[in-house]
Amino acid sequence: MLDRKIYQENFKKLQKMKEEVAKDPLLLAYHIYPETGWLNDPNGLCQLDGTYHFYYQASPLDENRADIGWGHVSSTDLINYKREDFFIFPDSKYDKNGAYSGSAFIEDNKLSFFYTGNVKYPGDFDGINEGREHNTLRIDSDAYTYGEKILIMDNDDYPADMTKHVRDPKIYKKDGTYYMFLGARSKDDKGMVLVFKSENLKDFTYHMRIETAYDFGFMWECPDFFDLGDKQILICCPQGLASEKYKFQNIYQSGYFFIDLDLENKTYKLGNFEELDYGFDFYAPQTFEDEACRRILVGWMGIPDADYTNPSVKYKWQHALTIPRELKIKNQRLVQEPIKELEALRGSKIDLEKGKVYEELTFEASAYNISGDFKIYLRKDVTLFYKDGILSLKMGKSGSGRDERLIKIDEITSLRIFSDRSSLEIFINDGAYVMTNRVYAQEGYFKSEDLDLAIYPLGAFTFS
Ligand code: FRU
Repeated sequence: MLDRKIYQENFKKLQKMKEEVAKDPLLLAYHIYPETGWLNDPNGLCQLDGTYHFYYQASPLDENRADIGWGHVSSTDLINYKREDFFIFPDSKYDKNGAYSGSAFIEDNKLSFFYTGNVKYPGDFDGINEGREHNTLRIDSDAYTYGEKILIMDNDDYPADMTKHVRDPKIYKKDGTYYMFLGARSKDDKGMVLVFKSENLKDFTYHMRIETAYDFGFMWECPDFFDLGDKQILICCPQGLASEKYKFQNIYQSGYFFIDLDLENKTYKLGNFEELDYGFDFYAPQTFEDEACRRILVGWMGIPDADYTNPSVKYKWQHALTIPRELKIKNQRLVQEPIKELEALRGSKIDLEKGKVYEELTFEASAYNISGDFKIYLRKDVTLFYKDGILSLKMGKSGSGRDERLIKIDEITSLRIFSDRSSLEIFINDGAYVMTNRVYAQEGYFKSEDLDLAIYPLGAFTFS
């Protein structure tokens, strides 16, 4: 349990942790990272009255995951951020072991958040079938404060064949009806999305489930459903898929299905599952539509239960959010483009000579009209290598346990690489493929053997 009182009593500890964070030479320059402690999923992403609000799973007093609530930053331009007060404390009987992930819903300028309250019973339980509550909660909010934590559903309201793992609500409105999408694990260990229906955002009834006809993991976390162009898209994070050489290389996956979903008639047709990211550090993405009607995705630049590590723990913080990406449909594919606001951070363009080493750590590099194979050094012991239709990202010591990730791509036509002090986000073929990674080399070393690259040094976000 973490409530405001405990948080305030730890003021001195938090101050000390902040000082440690500031000492990290690889602290990120243009990413959202926790002021202190641990961060995981992005939550409650929204824009209200012009201001963007990004919340995230956080345990501020511990750089390793502990009592989880919601941290909060706001921004009016997605370049300058303000650290806001800690938002949701896990302090009620419905969420005392964690204010878990959830999302925002805005209608008529009224904002509500839906999230999962995690409760664990003391004693000898497996925490899957017994000994746990996953409560669906709603809070009405002005983005900074909120009223009562309203219990919307508990485990008794979910279908009887579900385990206690039903979580991460996302609301979608269609023809005057509200639908809530929840990630779930059934008692026979099948991952799926449950859909509930409501006319008033308070009383929800079970409506339908979305699952594959084939085995596809034991749990689907963090579902998201939205329309984009003429497509309907279902995002989820399946757990329990077997790794293959070019697919599902991480412990858990994040991806999407194109889906034909008829909510009224409860029918659907799922397309193939496509991975949203091929890097080492990407999970639990969430999208929202901003006031300019852009569909923006932010992911957790991290992943649970990985065997690689983050040396930032020495400086009392761990993990960050990805840069925001605008989602678009191009040539029948979902593509992710870094939001255009980031261009405001650019310094003067430098055309990098082939074979010349560029020693900065924070920059954006791009190459267009690529044809053929190439090799790029992203750090001295980190290479991006394309040959015979296979793209390899390989890390040495600075990967801190990260080794190699591969993508099969017939042709690479463009690359856009965002290097921050301890991260690399690589956008391939105008965002048709993305690789998101943490990396820990003190020394900047960026060199292209084969491609003509343009480099922009990048400035930092401000956090006030
Ligand atoms: C995904 C996740 C969610 C859960 C949250 C808890 O990373 O496991 O399913 O709500 O993290 O922090």
